[in-house]
Order: sequence, then structure tokens, then C-alpha cells
Amino acid sequence: MTSSGRRKIYIFDTTLRDGEQCPGATLTPSEKLEIAKQLERLNVDIIEAGFPVASPGEVKAVQDISKAVKRPVICALSRMMPKDIDIAREALKFAVKKRLHVFLATSRIHREYKLKKGKREILKLAVQNIKYGRRFFKDVEFSPEDSARTEREFLVDVVKAGIDAGATTVNIPDTVGYAMPDEFGDLIAFLVNRNPGLGTKINLSVHCHNDLGLAVANSLEAVRNGANQVECTVNGIGERAGNASLEEIVMAIDTRRDFLKAHTDICLREITKSSRLVSHLTGLVVQPNKAIVGHNAFAHESGIHQDGILKKRQTYEIIDPRRIGLSGSDMVMGKHSGRHAFRERLKKLGYVLKPTELDQAFKRFKELADQKKYVFDGDLEAIVDDTISKVPEIWQLAHLKVTSETGARPKVVVALHRQGKTYEQMSEGDGPVDACYKAIEKITGIKTSLTQYAIRSVTVGKDALGEVHIKLAIHNREVSARATSTDVIEASVKAYLFALNKACATQETKSASPI
Ligand code: KIV
Ligand code: ZN
Repeated sequence: MTSSGRRKIYIFDTTLRDGEQCPGATLTPSEKLEIAKQLERLNVDIIEAGFPVASPGEVKAVQDISKAVKRPVICALSRMMPKDIDIAREALKFAVKKRLHVFLATSRIHREYKLKKGKREILKLAVQNIKYGRRFFKDVEFSPEDSARTEREFLVDVVKAGIDAGATTVNIPDTVGYAMPDEFGDLIAFLVNRNPGLGTKINLSVHCHNDLGLAVANSLEAVRNGANQVECTVNGIGERAGNASLEEIVMAIDTRRDFLKAHTDICLREITKSSRLVSHLTGLVVQPNKAIVGHNAFAHESGIHQDGILKKRQTYEIIDPRRIGLSGSDMVMGKHSGRHAFRERLKKLGYVLKPTELDQAFKRFKELADQKKYVFDGDLEAIVDDTISKVPEIWQLAHLKVTSETGARPKVVVALHRQGKTYEQMSEGDGPVDACYKAIEKITGIKTSLTQYAIRSVTVGKDALGEVHIKLAIHNREVSARATSTDVIEASVKAYLFALNKACATQETKSASPI
């Protein structure tokens, strides 16, 4: 409890144990160590570093983490078997603060089909092994696996037996993500009622899986009803649909401290970094609309929302993205974005345009937004660079037609405007860009030689702007130019014309014949 009257909720991170059990997420010992160091910076209270009996590599990973990570408690999972507990002891021998976590299934379905054991046998096994664990560990956590589907009276007996045997934390797992929030909260309240030391003298933990998408909701209901520890993983990775997501729980507790009357000691600004590291090392991509850490979590596309955000951030943003380590909202612009949002975004990017330039840039932005779904900052920079270039548009692209067939030389028709007149030429070439450049040469009568050509994507996605950089030798000068378009042939033509116009601005060209 703090002076503000808010209860401290312990964050038990199991990214490296339950999270790693996720298909395809296997981590090497050095990757686990890297994540553990980041979890330490994130300031989690407990790191469940692994399940040592699983492999010698797992023992080494837990040992490496125990040697390098000193502030949080390092925990290792073990079945209720002395030989497993001994391996966990070996794995944790270097840890400054250590916890043994023992589990045993208690629900009827697990007892009958998986363990083939009766209630009395389960109770006996739990007591024996918790007592064995306590011979070596001051801190022992006991999980009656599948608690949420265990008969309530039997769960009360199991929990009491575990505490009497020496468990210092009792963890209530919803192993298969079956519980409803109200029901799970009620279960926690029921257990506290039957064993009033839970959540105060004995830590009361919850461990929720996300099979029905309710892991975070269930964990928060448990907190409201007396749990003082939550088990979770970064990005919510874990078995099947995953575990409760650390960042969602922590930010819900922080954002709704008025309602939950609780707090955690998590260093919020490390959240984004932790999410990216876990995603990068596990190869598990975070879905774009994932709360808190998804790419779109702080993106505002609708014009009304963008306008509201600019007037008062809290209109549509309940979390300041800088608090979780982001630089600011990644405002994705789109066809619904208005002029105000467009101008403000440009200001943030360091561009203050004159009204006529702004008009031009905004028109170009709207054209682009019609072609591609999202307009990113890189696109906006490209638009502004195109708009505010000081080169007079002597030659302008009027239209372009490209016919290209496999095995045949591409044919193009290029039409250019100059001083109110339109000039058109057809041409063939080794490729469509070559054909276009030849057609332009025919129209303008200006001999050039292309000395450099490079193309790149400005932002992401199939509809991204293509940016073409060229160098053109014209009249014994080399002129560089760049242009962008979602159509790379068009970008190539525009870059060519930009270079030509630059050269023409200082030297008059030969006349060409209008169509
Ligand atoms: O989901 C579960 O029940 C577990 C236990 C080992 C805590 O992961
Ligand atoms: Zn689990």
C-alpha cells in the first residue's frame, strides 16, 4: 500500500517460460539473457526465467540470467517431483533473490484424464513437494493448475494445504482461458473470504490465458477482488492464444488507478522497447491494432480525430505515447485527413509552408491519399520536397502510356506540356524507363546521358511511394534530380524532367514541334 492508498501489484513476468512455450518462439540462452536484462530495466518484480527440467540449455539460460540480473526475483518452474526441484535448485544457484514455482493440476478433468489421481493423492503430492521445496527456498510459489475449472471446495482445501506446507505465494491459473471476468473475480473474492491471509500475508497471484480474449480482463477483475500479483508476458505471447499481456495490464492499472486503486512499479517508458525486443527475438509480429504496443495504437486516421487530438490530445488519446517510450503519436494521414491536421503535421516535421505552397502540397497529398491508404511522414516529406522545389516547370508531364509485354520491347507514349502547348512522342526501349527517356529526348531535342539511376521505397507497403534518384549529363553538366510517385515509371519520368528543367533554367533548349 502506498501513501496514496493504492495497493502495490507485483508483476511476475513469464515471457521467458510460458511465453517461450508459444509455437515458433524458442529462444537461445543468449537471447533469453538479453530479454531478461530488458525485463530488469522494465523493473518487473519477478522474472520466471524457465522450466529447467526441460533441457540442459534451459538450466544454463536460468543460470546465466541469475548471474547477470540481480534486482528482480528470478524464478524457475518445476513439477511436483523432488528430481525436478533439484534441477531448479541447480539452475537458480547463482540467483541473489530466487523463487521456486511448483505446479500440480487440480481440476477434475486433469485429475481423471491427465494425472489419473484422486483428490487425496493430489493433496498429498502438493504438501510433500512444497515441503521439499521449502527446505531449499524461502520463497515458494504454488500453482494449482487449471484452478478456474477446479471444484471450489476442493480448491479451498488445496490452497490451505499448500499454505500450511509453506507456500509463500498461491497462484490461481485460468490455464485454458475459460473463465469470464465476473466469474473469475468472484472466485478470487471467494478464496480470500475463505482464507483471509491471501493477498496480504500470503501473495495471491493470478495467471490467465487468452483463449477467449479475456486474459487481461480476468486479471484485472482478480486485482479488484484481492489478487496482489499478476502473471503476464510481454506482447501477451504464450501457449495457444497467449497469456495476459504485461503492457495492457500495467497501462490499465496506471490509466485507471482511480478505479482499480492499485499501482505497479513498472518503468513505463521501457514498455515499447521491451515489446520490440521480444517481437524481434521471438519473430512473433505484434498485430498492428494491439493495445498499447501495436503499430496503430497511437495512430489517428480520421479527420475528426486528428483535429480533436490537435486541439486537446486527451480527446482521443487516453495515454500519452511518450510515457511508454514512443516519441509521439505516429499520425497516419489518409484521405479523411483535413487541411489543419496536414499543416500541423508538416510543422511537427519542421516544414512551414507559404499559403500557395501549402495549397499545392495539400492538393498533392489528397491525390496521393486517393492512391494509397496511409500517408506516412516519409511520404509527406517527399511531397513537400517536390512542392517547394525552386526549379521552374518548363517541361511538365501531361500524360504517359506504357505498353509492356513479356518478351517484347516496351512501347511508350509520352506527352509533355510547355508554355501552353502539348508535345507527344512514341518510343520503344530496352525497358519502359529507357523508352520514356527516349520519347522525352525526341520531344525536347535535348541529348542527355543517364549516369546514375536508383530507386527506393519511401515508406512501407505495396502501395508505398517509389522514389527515383537520377543523375543526368546535359550539355556537359551533370544534374541530379529526384521524384516520387506510387508509379515508379512516372517517378522516373518526373525525375528526368526535373533534371531537364534544372538544366533548362540556365540554358535555352532547341525548339520542339507541337502536336
Ligand atoms: O497455465 C498454467 O496453468 C501454467 C502454470 C504452470 C502456472 O502455466
Ligand atoms: Zn500458463
